[in-house]
Amino acid sequence: MEIKAITGDIARVRTGAIIVTHHEGKRRPEGETATLDKALKGAIARLIKQGEIKGKAGEITLLHSPAGVTAGRVVVAGLGKKRGLTLDKIRGAVAETLRYVRGKGITSAAVVVPGAGIRGIRTEETAQAVAEGAILGLYTFRRHMTKKGDNAKEIKTLKVIGKGRAMLTAAIERGRVLAEAACWARDMVNEPGNFMTPTNMAEAARQLADDYGLSLEVFDRDKMTELGMGGLLAVSQGSQQPPRFIILKYQGKGGDKTDLVLVGKGITFDSGGISIKPSERMSEMKGDMAGGAAVMAAMIGLSRLKPALNVTALVPATENMPGGTALKPGDIITAMNGKTIEVLNTDAEGRLILADALSYAKKLGSKAVIDVATLTGACQVALGDKCSGAFTNNQALLDKVIAAGKATGELAWQLPMFEEYKELIKSDIADIKNTGGRYAGAITAAKFLEEFVGGVPWVHLDIAGTFLADKEKGYLVKGGTGVPVRTLVSLIMKMAK
Ligand code: BES
Ligand code: MN
Ligand code: ZN
Repeated sequence: MEIKAITGDIARVRTGAIIVTHHEGKRRPEGETATLDKALKGAIARLIKQGEIKGKAGEITLLHSPAGVTAGRVVVAGLGKKRGLTLDKIRGAVAETLRYVRGKGITSAAVVVPGAGIRGIRTEETAQAVAEGAILGLYTFRRHMTKKGDNAKEIKTLKVIGKGRAMLTAAIERGRVLAEAACWARDMVNEPGNFMTPTNMAEAARQLADDYGLSLEVFDRDKMTELGMGGLLAVSQGSQQPPRFIILKYQGKGGDKTDLVLVGKGITFDSGGISIKPSERMSEMKGDMAGGAAVMAAMIGLSRLKPALNVTALVPATENMPGGTALKPGDIITAMNGKTIEVLNTDAEGRLILADALSYAKKLGSKAVIDVATLTGACQVALGDKCSGAFTNNQALLDKVIAAGKATGELAWQLPMFEEYKELIKSDIADIKNTGGRYAGAITAAKFLEEFVGGVPWVHLDIAGTFLADKEKGYLVKGGTGVPVRTLVSLIMKMAK
């Protein structure tokens, strides 16, 4: 989809559908909506008066063959009350309205940058949000369909109408980069386990390295053995698919010091292993590499926006499968940092592979580490699908992550790391055990990870509740969400300033 900024007379825009907005509680059209309404000889004002257009969030009103304007149709999208307007509501409204327009078989649209002049919202940010909402909301995953469905028609051009073409163009481009990176992660998550093996993930990394000028290293089993990556090796030992440890580097400034390491869980399918999962919804575990996909996708964003920082992404990738050679409950393994782990449940595998990746991050001498993982069902139970769980050993770093998440609409909520929880993962016969029992599962998992961070400023994001959407809503569509790609990229852009 081409997205371009245009300025000028809204009544003269050539497009299949022109989208304007209306706020709840306003008795007449305002701003550009009023300008368009004048050309329409008061058609919108009449519908407001008659009560058909209320301006409620999610409301969409279509005007057919409107006389007085060049656009094929006029669509009035409700934005809710002016006071409560946020960038995320704009993203959602743009997404829903464009899906509606696409559903009518219309292939071009124009949208007025909404919220201009509203306190606390800058036009720049709004234009960026429009681009994000459009790309994220129109996302589809049709790779494996042999026939084109009813929805096969795409919106090919989107005009964004506002003031200041250069500013708008730059804002649209930023939105495009963030949203396209998130969609790349969605593709990875939606791809089934037979198409997204650890080897395929490493190939995808190779493609990224080639396309975006990142440097790449991939470790195989021999190299993992040499480094003592006992967690990753143990989880992979029941699988026919060989594991991979993927390292992507973005160099935004001189020297080889690493400013930030991103670590992503890369379980390409989590059956639970010998501690096998129930079959209901096990298929969702094809997306247990969502953290890995997110940190790889973030590297796309960085290479396109070029912040002056050096960032490395680490993705330990493997399947978690049962079998004659699989890791067994009760086994004791040694992670890369030398700590021994009693494995009481083979389904708590994410923390085993992250133990090695975090140990490796420490060895790289990074100033900070952020890991992203679909780590615990307990986090999903605690927070649902509205926000990710966040944990840290460094409040200042986490505050930045949470602020970036708030700006992008990818919310995160902090959970405690009190020392008191550590006793839950004490083992009688090894340094630590991989489960902390039934309660506080998201926290004990984070306490486990902390043991391998080695004191480096660190944030852990548990995305078990947020990596998948079960239905279309706002700019999310059913399937992978791409969380927290936009947060990571925006955060790093801010850190580099
Ligand atoms: N990948 C799962 C966690 C998960 C659950 C992610 C639901 C997304 C949605 C993880 O490997 C897992 O199985 N965790 C166990 C840990 C337990 C055995 C301590 C869990 O949460 O049940
Ligand atoms: Mn598991
Ligand atoms: Zn898992």
